[in-house]
Amino acid sequence: MRIVLGVGGGIAAYKVASLLRLFTEAGHHVTVIPTEAATRFVGTATWEALSGNPVSNSVFDDVHQVNHVRLGHEADLVVIAPATADLLAKAATGQAGDLLTNTLLMAHGPVLFAPAMHTEMWQHPATRANVETLRSRGAAVLEPASGRLTGSDSGPGRLPEPEAIYDAALALVQGQGDYQLPLAGRTVTISAGGTREPLDPVRFLGNRSSGKQGVALALAARDAGATVRLLAAHMEVPPPAGVEVVRVETALQLREAALAAAADSDVVIMSAAVADFRPAEVSDTKIKKRDDSADPVITLVRNPDILHELVERRNAGDAGPASQLIVGFAAETGDSDGDVLAYAEAKLRRKGCDLLVVNHVGTDKVFGQDTNAVVILARSGSEPQEAAGSKADVSAAIINRISYELNHVLPRA
Ligand code: CTP
Repeated sequence: MRIVLGVGGGIAAYKVASLLRLFTEAGHHVTVIPTEAATRFVGTATWEALSGNPVSNSVFDDVHQVNHVRLGHEADLVVIAPATADLLAKAATGQAGDLLTNTLLMAHGPVLFAPAMHTEMWQHPATRANVETLRSRGAAVLEPASGRLTGSDSGPGRLPEPEAIYDAALALVQGQGDYQLPLAGRTVTISAGGTREPLDPVRFLGNRSSGKQGVALALAARDAGATVRLLAAHMEVPPPAGVEVVRVETALQLREAALAAAADSDVVIMSAAVADFRPAEVSDTKIKKRDDSADPVITLVRNPDILHELVERRNAGDAGPASQLIVGFAAETGDSDGDVLAYAEAKLRRKGCDLLVVNHVGTDKVFGQDTNAVVILARSGSEPQEAAGSKADVSAAIINRISYELNHVLPRA
């Protein structure tokens, strides 16, 4: 296929070299059109060498070939990465000051924008309006990834990973204009909140989990096109609309619900805070304080490790598709024996899940908070990935990563 790769003037331009490689290695013919500003970040020579084609950003080069008409008409696909705030504005208002914007106005095929900019620019009403305009005209505008940006800031605004842009581009072409959401047709089960282990009819052992992260994940998965099943233990927030909700109270109930749900799930995310222990005995009646007998002693017994069991069953072919992706969460504190990552890596091996999302916790962090910072570890051994920002941002990053794993890293052993 003939692809026009428009490169905007942002630091993320350097990552687009990898995207170009993905396209050329898959046998596509790519013409790169960098903006003037883009060539300050990555020079024309790089684009020519990697694409094997001449590169220009001027309508006055090779005028006899009427490049701005030819490139737009011939392109089966136009990808703009990084789509800066400036380029989105120019495209939305139909400006035609250089070869790239001319080509965009001449393009007949699908157009994909992969934005990258600082969070405030992305969230500015002007940019939001430009994105809406482009989408309403049928262009696909990806959500930027979240994480560390060029300065000390972090949040949504990172260029999506080259593989994610590549996937979205191919899906766009295959869908002949209908941009297919990354989790369309997938079923995702998410456990959320904290389990409660009863002592008697009025008391329980619980934990501080608010369920916010699990609910944010459910929203992100729903917005990515998945059918979502939320296994809701105790939560301080309501479940989102548009997802199936299964209410549970105890770890044993959650185990039962999770094993049942896993049977037809492409992804299982265990974000619930599951009690590791439960009282050995549950009194049928309220435990009374009495002066004539000793104070009660509570004996605890181990709860089953649901995450580990899900992995074992999947590996044995007993629950869910062999390609099922299982994601665990780990709330870790470092201590004198090891740092957070070392503990998390050991937990990843112990649990055997495909991805482990690691929260660094103190009592004042994570639980009940609206913001979060995590590291995603993969069993496949790829580099740890960091994500930070609101729980919604972090959830979007986790769901992006899950989509990538589902579309690229299958089948897993
Ligand atoms: N989990 C589970 N079943 C349990 C306990 C935990 O499925 N009985 C899941 C959680 O939902 C989470 C992951 O396992 O996805 C990690 O839980 P965590 O409590 O941090 O790990 P533990 O195995 O309990 O290890 P430790 O308490 O020693 O840190």
